[in-house]
Amino acid sequence: MAKQLSGAGLRGQVAGKTALSTVGVSGSGLTYRGYDVKDLANNCQFEEVAYLILKGKLPNQRELSAYKKTLQSLRSLPQPLKEVLERIPKDAHPMDVLRTGCSMLGNLEGEANFDQQQDVTERMLAAFPGIICYWYRFTHDGIRIDENTDDDSIGGHFLHLLRGEKPSQLHEDVMHVSLILYAEHEFNASTFTARVCASTLSDMHSCITGAIGSLRGPLHGGANEAAMEMIEGFTSPEHAEKEMMAKLERKEKIMGFGHAVYSDSDPRNEIIKQWSKKLSEDVGDDTLYAVSERCEEVMWREKKLFCNADFFHASAYNFMDIPTKLFTPIFVMSRLTGWAAHVMEQRADNRIIRPSAEYTGEELRPVPPMSERD
Ligand SMILES: CC(C)(COP(=O)(O)OP(=O)(O)OC[C@H]1O[C@@H](n2cnc3c(N)ncnc32)[C@H](O)[C@@H]1OP(=O)(O)O)[C@@H](O)C(=O)NCCC(=O)NCCS
Repeated sequence: MAKQLSGAGLRGQVAGKTALSTVGVSGSGLTYRGYDVKDLANNCQFEEVAYLILKGKLPNQRELSAYKKTLQSLRSLPQPLKEVLERIPKDAHPMDVLRTGCSMLGNLEGEANFDQQQDVTERMLAAFPGIICYWYRFTHDGIRIDENTDDDSIGGHFLHLLRGEKPSQLHEDVMHVSLILYAEHEFNASTFTARVCASTLSDMHSCITGAIGSLRGPLHGGANEAAMEMIEGFTSPEHAEKEMMAKLERKEKIMGFGHAVYSDSDPRNEIIKQWSKKLSEDVGDDTLYAVSERCEEVMWREKKLFCNADFFHASAYNFMDIPTKLFTPIFVMSRLTGWAAHVMEQRADNRIIRPSAEYTGEELRPVPPMSERD
């Protein structure tokens, strides 16, 4: 007999083992392979953290240079993939574009066996910025971009493709921080999706495609876009306060606040918030950052709800002039590392994931003949 359900959403239940990260363990908010995410965000580039998550150690200088070179060499998109991207409508959601792009890449360059798991992951890491920007620039600007740039970082490469010019050092630095903060987060919904898929011994592209679909929702990765849509409608901190109070009165969920595991703060928030402030000063903003801070104050004062990683990412990306609908795809470019590492971890000690359900349907009954049905 299966155990009774102890809580909706499997909250608090241990569903497997991981050596990749800890979330909300007392005294250490978020760690990747034993390193505090704040330490990593303050001292590393994203590629160092990707290497750490995927290969198990921080790279030395030689290893990092070689890794970045490899990623740079894997950016070209196959022609049939470009043709598919060109056929996706302009008003499609970029997360759907990435999901299709990832799946198509799997058709063209599938993972023939698990020995290729690191190689196909590197290929995806290198190609995802090109997939999203190729489609975006083709459908929005009517141009076929060259998906190669001389930028040696994934974040810098993405911004370069998006804008057609090299990003500033500040913007490249913010991308490193942002991608590090989003890289890994234990058994969240999209990672769990990837692990369930991996547990059937499916291929890497299927696991990642499923995870992208799972991340798309506003309760998960889509929260940064939803937060942006909300705050850009507020014209001043006072206006924000009034609207937030009305939303709370109506018992609306406010995107970018709260967390399923953290109880009083999300360690990623204080880091991205600092960078959002820096960017706000850089662009001479006098509204959006102040509005965001007021939202934070109101939510804490009224509901003891705190900003999660997504809330100040919204203003930070906006200050960098990144279109709102591309926010969640950036999350994918980063979380791909965590997903793939979880797939590899699952494969290394696998048993198919197959929980049970508590049945709430009809008692056993006979099939009525057609003539007796309503
Ligand atoms: C992240 C999230 C899904 C966690 O969900 P959860 O663990 O199921 O938390 P709960 O929904 O049980 O929250 C407990 C209470 O706080 C409220 N609450 C939680 N997050 C809230 C939010 N963002 N806005 C308003 N109320 C919120 C819930 O309505 C609930 O109130 P109730 O007990 O009166 O029903 C949830 O906080 C949420 O939907 N946040 C907004 C989406 C978001 O930012 N997602 C990104 C996560 S990194």
